[in-house]
Amino acid sequence: MTTPPLKPTGLRCAHQVNPLGVAAARVRLSWLLEGTGRDRGQRGYQIAVAPQEEQLSTGEAVCWDTGRVTSAASADIAYAGRPLTCGSRYYWRVRVWDESQGSSDWSEPAWFEVELDQADGWPAGWIGLGRIRENFRPPTETGPSDPVAIALTPAPYLRRPFWLDRPVASARLYVTALGLYEARLNGRRVGDAVLAPGWTDYARRIPYQTYDVTRLLNQGDNVVGAILADGWYCGFFGFDAKQAGAHYGEAPEFLAQLVIDFADGSQQRVVTDDQWRARFAGIRHADLLMGERHDLALEPRGWDAPGFDEAGWLPVHCRERDGRPLVADPGPPVRVIEDIMPRSITTGDDGRHVVDFGQNLTGWLRIGVDGPPGARVRIRHAEALAPNGSLYTENLRTARATDEFSTSGGPEAFEPRFTLHGFRYAEISGYPGDIGEASIVARVAHSDIAAAGEFESSQGWLNQLFRNIDWGQRGNFISVPTDCPQRDERLGWLGDAQVFARTACYNREVAAFFDKWLDDVADAQFASGAYSDIAPRLNIGWAGAPAWADAGVIVPWTLYKMYGDTGILGRHFAAMTAWMAFLERGNPGYLRTRDLGNGYNDWLAPAEDKTPAELLATAYWAYDAALMADIADAIGRPDEAAGYRALWSKIRAAFADAFVGGDGQITSDTQTAYVLGLHMNLIPGELRDSAADHLVAAISRENWHLATGFVGVGYILPVLCSTGYADVAYRLLEQDSLPSWRYMVDAGATTIWERWDGWTRERGFQSAWMNSFNHYALGSVGEWLYRFVLGLDLSPGTAGFGQLLIRPHPGGGLQWARGSYRSVRGPVTSSWQRVGSRFTLRLGLPPNVTASVRIPSDDPAEVRDDTGRGPAAIADYPGARGSLEAVFEVGSGRYEFSGPDLSSGRS
Ligand code: BGC
Repeated sequence: MTTPPLKPTGLRCAHQVNPLGVAAARVRLSWLLEGTGRDRGQRGYQIAVAPQEEQLSTGEAVCWDTGRVTSAASADIAYAGRPLTCGSRYYWRVRVWDESQGSSDWSEPAWFEVELDQADGWPAGWIGLGRIRENFRPPTETGPSDPVAIALTPAPYLRRPFWLDRPVASARLYVTALGLYEARLNGRRVGDAVLAPGWTDYARRIPYQTYDVTRLLNQGDNVVGAILADGWYCGFFGFDAKQAGAHYGEAPEFLAQLVIDFADGSQQRVVTDDQWRARFAGIRHADLLMGERHDLALEPRGWDAPGFDEAGWLPVHCRERDGRPLVADPGPPVRVIEDIMPRSITTGDDGRHVVDFGQNLTGWLRIGVDGPPGARVRIRHAEALAPNGSLYTENLRTARATDEFSTSGGPEAFEPRFTLHGFRYAEISGYPGDIGEASIVARVAHSDIAAAGEFESSQGWLNQLFRNIDWGQRGNFISVPTDCPQRDERLGWLGDAQVFARTACYNREVAAFFDKWLDDVADAQFASGAYSDIAPRLNIGWAGAPAWADAGVIVPWTLYKMYGDTGILGRHFAAMTAWMAFLERGNPGYLRTRDLGNGYNDWLAPAEDKTPAELLATAYWAYDAALMADIADAIGRPDEAAGYRALWSKIRAAFADAFVGGDGQITSDTQTAYVLGLHMNLIPGELRDSAADHLVAAISRENWHLATGFVGVGYILPVLCSTGYADVAYRLLEQDSLPSWRYMVDAGATTIWERWDGWTRERGFQSAWMNSFNHYALGSVGEWLYRFVLGLDLSPGTAGFGQLLIRPHPGGGLQWARGSYRSVRGPVTSSWQRVGSRFTLRLGLPPNVTASVRIPSDDPAEVRDDTGRGPAAIADYPGARGSLEAVFEVGSGRYEFSGPDLSSGRS
């Protein structure tokens, strides 16, 4: 029986499936391979690209035909054909040759559409109603001088009727706002994105979305419309009171063009211009932090459809576009991803209802009502309850997180459009009628990023920790990776994203999301070369903080490792080089002692943070230099790679001189100092073991607790597993008293807390000033669950998941663990168990992947694969000193390995 050829599927462009808008320079193609059996591999590929689908088969007008390319690459293939035309669609397909040298069939065609031309692609103007300040009554009972209430203004509704006299072949709506928009066409919502166009530094680039609206148009009368809100552009967010409500501008504006291609080949455009009419209506205010207030009786029903009388609607303010670039949004939109039903609703003596959704999440409520007109219903949100059962909102600081609506009478439903709350509980007051009939759901909203990883083990609390890490990611990946989704902050802190990036990649397909955010990081870089501490950076001048600003190098490198994406490296190489030059200019002695900016150091370390600032800073600088060498090699710049390697050795030597003693002891003796020194390879080889011993001594001094903050926490378990102390790693993992991951889980957490002691049994809540219950940084242990517990890792020195190191680290009380990671080369699965004195690993590798499989064992020569074959080699097992592992070299396929267990790894 012959094996069927490999089949290319899952075609993507710029990490997206059939994107409607992609910059020509970002067209990079990838595919997955389907195929059964073992040792399957791609030996070559051929890609064809053409403006019409039929041309792919006829071969006519093909604008790129690679011919047969001898290569195993199935991702990161940069388009190199004839120049692509802005605004046009291109179809593409691929076929592959496998190890039998037979060619596959051509794949199903995929397509992409190129973004519009900056210069003449946008014959449209910005429209809006300008700034009005009405002193609306705020959602809380505050007086008329309340500055927040004064800053909150109603949402403009905009409309434009038009006539189409011919049958439509296809139509696109290109649309954006300074602020947030919901686009409407003939009474229907366009697309399903929320909080669009997302957040960038609007002074530097404005993202737009493209929608295929062919099916929403009528031959005859049509109406295009939009509702606008302040959003990040001119609403409240962050904590800078002076800027609140006007970070980028004063009032929201809208920019759109509808491009209609008729069946007869002609074209018509409807653009934003002075022909539009607008008014304020039902949405009395809408703000990300403060919430939304909607008077349902003021909703002009039918306003977004033909046949509506627009008497009383005002002419819009219209201004020409300036030179700010409009870019097709490279990231995924924010969407409503799921609805969660209440777990319980309790009603207090005061008639207020408290709804518990059982999960800390980001989004808002939808609630049905059938009652008299004019009833005012108020919904407040909180992550936790106070001991008396009321909402605990102190940690929201100035974020009011309050939605309010008044009824128009009869059956209707309310849900806000332009706000976002971080909450598990909601308090509903003023509800007219039986709350049990209200059909309440929590609508979970975040950037729409598919899940990539799974993890499950024999310990229920650990599975909950895994879910909490993923929920923390979901709740904070809202157009940019934010620190927290609930209080008056919600900023793109680089340090948080940096420590969590690898975990994020394993959990979810974040390539396009981070690709977009790295543009924000580049936009936020200062002319000095210093990366900012937050991106987008607003007008906050904070820059250069160690472990924060270094994200400018670490995050692109992480994406390269996980996705093999060299495009990201190329796009940001000059910016990274400027950062490295900035560091070197300020620190000629190769110790990073200057320009440390705000120096957050090992932020929120549980006890006093004693890791010296210059030690932490120098470690990160050396790490940057090592990664820059890797990056330069990956994009074919060997001279720069050599330069960065030389820089790395100088910093490394300076680090060792300044901080490492002759017995491997590191200045300050803190856990984080050892973790950085060991993870970043800054300790002379002969001292690594004794430095690791010192780390373990430091952990034992804390009675086997973590003493790390944001910076040390992600690497501590990987470092222990790489230096012979997997047993200590498990001891920390399973620790259930403070500070520990398990303490949060046992306390009922459903996300990751900002602080180890955000709430304690003895003291209750930490200071309300900084006490988010949804901050992902301490969840960076997720990376260890995938790479070390499941053992799903890249081979050292490789990128893109083609060559793997499969090395599970069984330990602690875990009897089994299983999980998977959907990589750019397809799904990798690992499942191990310890039964009696045997250890068994089941492994699944997709085609075009090879792996070195390492099974730790007391008697590695006895380990067998499922064909009875013994190991190719025996090596030292890094998880436990003096222990060994059996080494198998395998290609794609499903395998089972089994042998005597490792007694030292059992608890
Ligand atoms: C944020 C953090 C951030 C930090 C900088 C805090 O307010 O919530 O997550 O990284 O500031 O130290």
